Amino acid sequence: MRSKSTFLMFSLLTPSALCFSFPQTSDITASISNIFNRSGGTKCPAIWTTISLDLTKSFLANGQCTDLARAAIRYAFHDAGTFSLKLPFTAPAAGGADGSLLLNPTEISRPENNGLQDYNKFIGDKFTLYKPQGVGAADLIYFAGNHAVVTCPGGPSVKTVIGRTDSSTASPTGVMPPGFGPGSDHDSLLKLFVDKGFSAEDLAALVGAHSTSKNIAETAIPVGASQDSTPGVWDVKFYAETYNPPQGVVRFDSDIALSNKSTAVGKKFAGFVDGQGKWTGKFADAMYRLSVLGVPSGTAKNFVECTDALPKAVSVKRDIRGAAINARAV
Ligand code: HEM
Repeated sequence: MRSKSTFLMFSLLTPSALCFSFPQTSDITASISNIFNRSGGTKCPAIWTTISLDLTKSFLANGQCTDLARAAIRYAFHDAGTFSLKLPFTAPAAGGADGSLLLNPTEISRPENNGLQDYNKFIGDKFTLYKPQGVGAADLIYFAGNHAVVTCPGGPSVKTVIGRTDSSTASPTGVMPPGFGPGSDHDSLLKLFVDKGFSAEDLAALVGAHSTSKNIAETAIPVGASQDSTPGVWDVKFYAETYNPPQGVVRFDSDIALSNKSTAVGKKFAGFVDGQGKWTGKFADAMYRLSVLGVPSGTAKNFVECTDALPKAVSVKRDIRGAAINARAV
């Protein structure tokens, strides 16, 4: 007599199995390795759609991006930005996109990370919640950063990948750009970014993230002051208003330095004034590269794309105030 399991196997194989061609051994090996690979093979794991819906609740309010959203964008930069080509490579990402800002408690206490403590707690709680489902700290940081960018009306959909290896080793110090004081001049800032693999145009595009910025912890300028007149949306007013700040807008010394039209970055900076489409394209490209900073290209090419798990981009011009929050979610 046949056992129950033999019967089950047999009934699964007939008759539908007759329609299938059996996979090659190499396909089977690839499928098995995908099951054990945190990045989940070629398909974005469903957990990222859950995370996306969850983040939208905190990143969007009244049709604008929130304080947590702007912090998410800055936090992603501060995790990856500690990479420098001038330093020796150490696995997994030489201090770049490795999640160490969240995983090594000494990093969040560094002066350059002042103002990010509330968000550190927020994203730390999300990591605790989703880690049991295979979510990595670094992946979560860049997914959240890119989610925040596209949640701000006008923000582009940045290519978003999953599969990074986390590190709890403290990143190098002395390679983050200051907004005020020594090192906030054009040449020093450009050098720091070139050492990270970025061009003058990349830097001009990346600092456009200050379109959504508010000062939290800098003592040189008023707390709560924004860097353009519309910090809840992703627009190019930051570029024009760095030249002519309206009342209430307060500029970082670094942004003033980078906007100087006689400099390499300033020429590109001026080119983004009134250039929403041009800027968002350049920003999205540089932000993707930031999100894999330090990760060897042979490794990054095996990451799984999860861009489709982000909310859909919304035009800066569209009035979405009346729309239900879930109308913008995935
Ligand atoms: C020359 C390079 C940069 C300098 C000197 C700089 C400096 C600063 C400073 C001083 C602040 C205020 C911090 C505080 O609240 O105390 C700030 C905020 C911010 N930065 Fe940058 N930044 C640079 C590049 C970037 C890049 C590349 C990004 C992202 C791609 C970014 C995103 C932000 C955001 C979104 C905020 C607002 C955070 C919030 O409101 O909570 N910055 N930046």
